[in-house]
Amino acid sequence: MKLTYFFVGIAIMTLIFSCETPNKLNDEIKSPVWEKQFSGVWKSTVNSPDDFNLLSISNKKPKGEAINKMEDSAVPLDLNEITAFTKNGKTYLRFPLEKEEQLYGFGLNFKTVRQRGRIMRLHVDHYRGSDDGRTHAPVPFFVSDRAYGVLINSARYIDVYSGTGVTHNSKNPAVVRDRNTDDKWSARPYSDNLEFVIPENGVELIMFTGKNMMEVVQRFNLYCGGGFIPPKWGLGFWQRTPTLYSDNDIRKEVEGFETKNFPLDVIGLEPGWHSKAYPCTFEWDKGRYPDPAGFAKEMTQKGVNLNLWANPYLWPDSKLDKQMKPYIGSHTVWCGTVPDYTIPEARTVMQDHLKKHQLDIGVSGFKIDEVDGYDEWLWPDAATFPSGHDAEQMRQTYGNQMMRVTDEIYRAKNQRSYGLIRAANAGSVSYPYVIYNDYYSHPDFITALINSSFSGLLWTPEVRASKSSEEWVRRMQSVCFSPMAMINAWADGTKPWSFEDVYEPCQDVAFLRMQLLPYIYSTFAQYYFEGKPPFRAMELVDGYLSKEEKIEGKLDATGNPYAEAIKKEVKDQYMMGDFILVAPVFNNQKERKLVLPKGNWYNFYTGEYIGNGEVVTIKPSLEKIPLFVKDGAIIPMIPKIRQTTEWTKDLPIELRVYGEKDGQFQLYNDDGQTYNYETGDYTIINLSSIQGKGTVSKIYGEESEKKSNFKWTYMSK
Ligand code: GAL
Repeated sequence: MKLTYFFVGIAIMTLIFSCETPNKLNDEIKSPVWEKQFSGVWKSTVNSPDDFNLLSISNKKPKGEAINKMEDSAVPLDLNEITAFTKNGKTYLRFPLEKEEQLYGFGLNFKTVRQRGRIMRLHVDHYRGSDDGRTHAPVPFFVSDRAYGVLINSARYIDVYSGTGVTHNSKNPAVVRDRNTDDKWSARPYSDNLEFVIPENGVELIMFTGKNMMEVVQRFNLYCGGGFIPPKWGLGFWQRTPTLYSDNDIRKEVEGFETKNFPLDVIGLEPGWHSKAYPCTFEWDKGRYPDPAGFAKEMTQKGVNLNLWANPYLWPDSKLDKQMKPYIGSHTVWCGTVPDYTIPEARTVMQDHLKKHQLDIGVSGFKIDEVDGYDEWLWPDAATFPSGHDAEQMRQTYGNQMMRVTDEIYRAKNQRSYGLIRAANAGSVSYPYVIYNDYYSHPDFITALINSSFSGLLWTPEVRASKSSEEWVRRMQSVCFSPMAMINAWADGTKPWSFEDVYEPCQDVAFLRMQLLPYIYSTFAQYYFEGKPPFRAMELVDGYLSKEEKIEGKLDATGNPYAEAIKKEVKDQYMMGDFILVAPVFNNQKERKLVLPKGNWYNFYTGEYIGNGEVVTIKPSLEKIPLFVKDGAIIPMIPKIRQTTEWTKDLPIELRVYGEKDGQFQLYNDDGQTYNYETGDYTIINLSSIQGKGTVSKIYGEESEKKSNFKWTYMSK
């Protein structure tokens, strides 16, 4: 009898075994070996990956010193539970998931923040309305709320099964149910696997840990070489102009901003500055811009920076195209050649041209379009490139390649730039670029802004047109609380005053952004020095509970509204820096819920107490975007200025203090335009508010920066 049990047991084991590891794979399934790189950072090389990967093309070094300044932290999971194998040219990875574990990241998603339960193929593309992995920046990096994250450093299309595959050897097996009779039957039984398929003979993995998700993200950002501090002008207001505008049209546009008294730091020229576009010549159109150098100089004198639109495909037989001929791919885009910018000579050809005809006459930056998709017009995966990299690898990195081309020339001039890009990938954190697209859903734009913070990206919810004044003002409000405050009027010719009846609130919010520049700039300094994303998901904030099980008691809308609220994804509020919570309002929204992390929160405008670790309902006025401030915050503000050229050291700074707690703020400043900050040329003033009295406690940098004209305002008294 006992022997029978034994044989039945063996038979069952064999069955399980053979289901789990067909084709005798068992020997090849291994746990990756991890090698420590820096505090809380480990690297593993699984089998034989390609030398070309997301980080190699970006050519940025990890900021090891900054990472090592962070307290070391252990890996929160059993590394033996991670497995990998390579078979038939594909590498398979599996990570364990705990019962309530939540995952974030995987790049620029527009509809979802939590990624557990999703199936995606990470593939650079124009976003088409569903979070299936095809997006402008499908970064293969995830963050788990167990406080670890992994970058899959491969420039391939990567398949992700994020808690969907159900295996036999699960620690928490899914329950098998009879659909005939059991109403708990589910088509998607519980899975505790996070799995990846990478079409390559191996892969490099980088693991990051920390005491919370914020530290994981910080380490990821610093490892990828970033963040960065934009030039001061980049944080002012941007207006992109209609495609065929000429120099005279631009002059009138700039005049309009002066007359209407609306902030303006950057004018964007769209395709019409090229003599031909789609593909592009990268040569000024002689009719619309007869004297580009003179025009650029005139704009600089008016405090206006020029940003030029381009796609990187070259007009046949243009000067640039002729020089680029040895370095182009087999296929064309709109009949234009596709340079292989992984080849150093190709980069040099483009860089020399841009330097001579654009940078050196005063152009401040670029908007690099069409580096994402669609498949219908980009090169197919059947294309070949002279470097030997696959079309797929080129697609996954073309945005990064173009950012590198332009970044290197501005760096060589020791001049900061800030621009727009429509595709990015891991490794682009330190490139001074913001992603945008044509999708134009206001709520989804905010979800993208939230998601950008998990993946080392910046995103602008740009404003184009609107169906009503209400929608216009709501969009203007949220774009002013984003990395780039911009109207993109390339098609509609809109201006900030296009909706006359809401002009005042639009003007107010643009000026408010200008007043907050010292705060925003200091927030970007955190991005550079500590890798903290300037615009952040609530999940990255201390005191924000993202798991309902952590909350005691029944979860319902009345007894325990916080738990009820966070059971749903929170996709419509985020933090700007450490202290300001932004709660955008959408068209037709008369009230909205606000999930407040633990700690006291105050109304930014009035200083009034709002709540603590709870869900509150607010009824916003049309005139103001709801903003809330953390207890103890010190918010530095300058007077209303129209252009960043007016942002001088002598401006008085009002320090608004919120709540009752003692607080601190590190006020950062530098020359605003060169890279000298990277070699220590900056000032940091430590501001403290102790028992209702404000002081300057410590100064790094030139003493002359010390402000005798600080004015402390206690908002909550
Ligand atoms: C689109 C881009 C727009 C605008 C337009 C000009 O591809 O997303 O922002 O630049 O091209 O043709």
